[in-house]
Parts: sequence; C-alpha cells; structure tokens
Amino acid sequence: MGANHSDRAIHFLRKFFFKDEPLNICVGLLDEPGSTCAELERYCLESIQDGVSLMAVTPDDQLVGVCLSGIVKKEDAEDSKGDSLEECANPKFKKILNLLTTVSKECDIFQRYPHLDTVLEIRVVSVDNAYRGQGIAKALFDQTKKLAKELSVPMVRVDCTSHYSAMAVARLGFQPIYTLQYSHHLDNSGQPVFQPEPPHSCVKTFIMHVPT
Ligand code: ACO
Repeated sequence: MGANHSDRAIHFLRKFFFKDEPLNICVGLLDEPGSTCAELERYCLESIQDGVSLMAVTPDDQLVGVCLSGIVKKEDAEDSKGDSLEECANPKFKKILNLLTTVSKECDIFQRYPHLDTVLEIRVVSVDNAYRGQGIAKALFDQTKKLAKELSVPMVRVDCTSHYSAMAVARLGFQPIYTLQYSHHLDNSGQPVFQPEPPHSCVKTFIMHVPT
C-alpha cells in the first residue's frame, strides 16, 4: 500500500477498527455520532508512510481488510511512543497509547534481542465484519512476514489487543513473549483502565524471527 491509498484505508478503518477494536470500544473512542479520532488517524498515516502496510481486496476491488505496519530501527526506538504519548491531546486515545507504551517498555525488544537492529511492527489489523473468520487476517499477517523477508528485516512484532488477532498469529507460528492482563493494568485509583468484553482479556506481544 502506498501513500496514495491512505484515504481509502483511513475511510475503511473509521468504519471498522475505530469502532470495533476491543480497546477502542472500551474507551468509547467514537461515541460521539459522526466523530473521528484525529490522533488515531495520524498514528495510522505515519505507519502507512513506511510503505509496509497491506490491503486485502476482493477480485472486484472491494476493500475487506487492512494491515498497517511500520519499521522501527534500534536507534530510533527509545521514547518514540513516549513522545506521541506526551503530545496526545485526546484523553481516550491517550489511555491506549499509554498501554502500548507500557507494553513496549516491558518488552524492551532491542534489549531482549541485542543483535537485532530493525523490527517490522504490525500496528493495526482490521477486517470487514462481513468477511471475518475466513482467514483474511492470517493472510495479511503472513504476507507482512513475507514482506519483512524481502526487505531483509529480521523480525516481525505485533501487540495483539484482540483475542482473535492473537489466535491468528499463534496459528502462523508467531511466538508469544509478553502478556499483560487487562485486569492488572490499573489507573491511579487502582481500577482497571480497560474492561473489554470476553474473550478479550489481555494484550499479548508476539514475535516471528524472519530468516534473511
Ligand atoms: N469467533 C471465534 N473465532 C474467531 C472469530 C470469532 N468471531 N473471528 C476470528 N476467529 C478466529 C479464527 O477462527 C482464527 O482461528 P483459527 O486459525 O484457530 O481458525 C483466528 O481467529 C483468526 O481468524 P482470521 O479469519 O484470520 O481473522 P479475521 O479475518 O476474522 O480478522 C480480526 C481478525 C482482524 C481481529 C477481526 O476480528 C477484526 O477486525 N476485529 C476488530 C479489530 C481488531 O480487534 N483488530 C485487532 C487488534 S490488534 C492489532 O491491531 C495489532
């Protein structure tokens, strides 16, 4: 997907991911009718610029899935999400960025794998709800892994906030390296920040080593 596909991808994500990703539901990201989340749109657009995002389309060119990824280099990794967190003016999206920042810090991927210099990070996966359970997310993850190989990026990483995205990558052989139960991620008053509907109970980080 090139930058010229951005509008189409964002339009799709507003219709699905912004409304139905488990944490977006929890914080009521689009509770105001007709609203959007400029901060999440920016997060998506910045990923698309890296040129490693994919769209799934039907033979008659209907867009049915989107997978947005970015390339993270070791030298740029420190505090990249931290900066976005500081700047985030949307209190709902900030809760999500805060969780992702916590996960990144706890995982500390470049510390954990000291020889690693670059990671392809899958950030957003979304499938049209009329096409779910047919393997489209698995195909998008698999193609992303192939893209990493073509680009000689030695690892793909994904933080799965949904039970179903976690099932998909586990099926493909991705390895879980970190789990944070939503019930353990607390706000200042000791209450869970997110209480998604079952079966979504945790954010789970998976990696796949890509032989280059
Ligand atoms: N009930 C039970 N199992 C399901 C369901 C469901 N509703 N949906 C998918 N699955 C299972 C599949 O059976 C499959 O498991 P299997 O290999 O053991 O059979 C696995 O989940 C993946 O299935 P796919 O068909 O490849 O996934 P799909 O194309 O349906 O897309 C996705 C999954 C992207 C999570 C979709 O449900 C979605 O768009 N959800 C809302 C947005 C979201 O939560 N995105 C992921 C957040 S994490 C991130 O973005 C990095």
